[in-house]
Amino acid sequence: MERAENLTELLAAQNHVRNQMLNFRKSASLKCAIELGIPEAINQHGKPITLSELVSALPDNPSKASHIYRLMRFLSKAGFFVLQDQGYALTAAGRLLLKDDPFNLRALIFFMSDPVLLKPWNSLTEWFRNDDPAPFDTAHGKNFWAYAAEEPNFANRFNEAMANDSTFIVQVMMTRCKFVFDGLTSLVDVGGGTGTIARAIAQNFPNLECVVCDLPHVIAGQEGTENVDFVAGDMLEKVPTADAILLKGILHDWSDEDCVKILKNCKEAIPGRNKGGRVIIIDMILESQIKDDESVETQVGMDMLMLMCHAAKERTEKEWAKLFRDAGFSDYKILPMFGVRCLIEVYH
Ligand SMILES: C[S@@+](CC[C@H](N)C(=O)[O-])C[C@H]1O[C@@H](n2cnc3c(N)ncnc32)[C@H](O)[C@@H]1O
Repeated sequence: MERAENLTELLAAQNHVRNQMLNFRKSASLKCAIELGIPEAINQHGKPITLSELVSALPDNPSKASHIYRLMRFLSKAGFFVLQDQGYALTAAGRLLLKDDPFNLRALIFFMSDPVLLKPWNSLTEWFRNDDPAPFDTAHGKNFWAYAAEEPNFANRFNEAMANDSTFIVQVMMTRCKFVFDGLTSLVDVGGGTGTIARAIAQNFPNLECVVCDLPHVIAGQEGTENVDFVAGDMLEKVPTADAILLKGILHDWSDEDCVKILKNCKEAIPGRNKGGRVIIIDMILESQIKDDESVETQVGMDMLMLMCHAAKERTEKEWAKLFRDAGFSDYKILPMFGVRCLIEVYH
């Protein structure tokens, strides 16, 4: 064997490929564990649950009971469960699988393995060779937003996943950087979905008038409150006027050209910095001070998701700065508040 001298290296390389090529196992097993009710069963038990107690708490086919151990072993290795005193307990990540945990990520987990979202991953190669705008278009014949507008069930699953993420972010925001909203009298959450963030900000700031501006099918049926209003709009055309504009998870959905268009519309909608005007962006900054492997993997993985859905991207600080300059803004400030994401205030 020619490569015999490198056999150890070759075995390690084989192992790496075999591990990576089956990466989807984690998301599929995670979704399955939630559907089987495993996190709930562990939690309701009140103390670490043995395998046989777990199996008898689940309503599954008894002939499959012996395989639950394998699912538990795999997801323990993946960091969701931990063995304590011969029983399984939930880790901090495992608690985020619980229906009643206020910060659970179940809708997001389900959405990421939604068949509609999985299909375009199989169209990546074709997309690299054709003229379609994004792999999503190659898989479904239309863009993500048009698909969501025409498929209410998919749109609901998407909106729930976004609200799922926003519930957590707004909590962090109110804990770590509530001051960002001090002194504002009006705020427009552009692409604010079903209003999770706007409602929470409005509750914390009763004198702040909040408007959620999103596509007509997203805001249809949403009820406003004393200081939250919903308006239909297209951010590529116009943004309603306010002291501040919030863009959470928006600009990573768009090309540089569209981002400049959106940011220019935001600039038109707000007063200058001396009058308190600002755009508040919540998104990722690639290649920042965040260096740990897991966070960097989350960031570049998210970038691939944006490529797949919209042929859009996550950005480095340099790329963000260029967008701001091109849209006519003069300054920005980064608040690294949300782990892999941060808050960027932009002024003119
Ligand atoms: C990734 S989601 C973010 C939702 C919300 N900001 C959040 O983080 O929970 C993007 C949002 O932009 C909205 N959107 C897409 N195109 C839009 C447009 N042209 N004008 C206004 N909103 C749009 C979508 O309907 C969706 O609610």
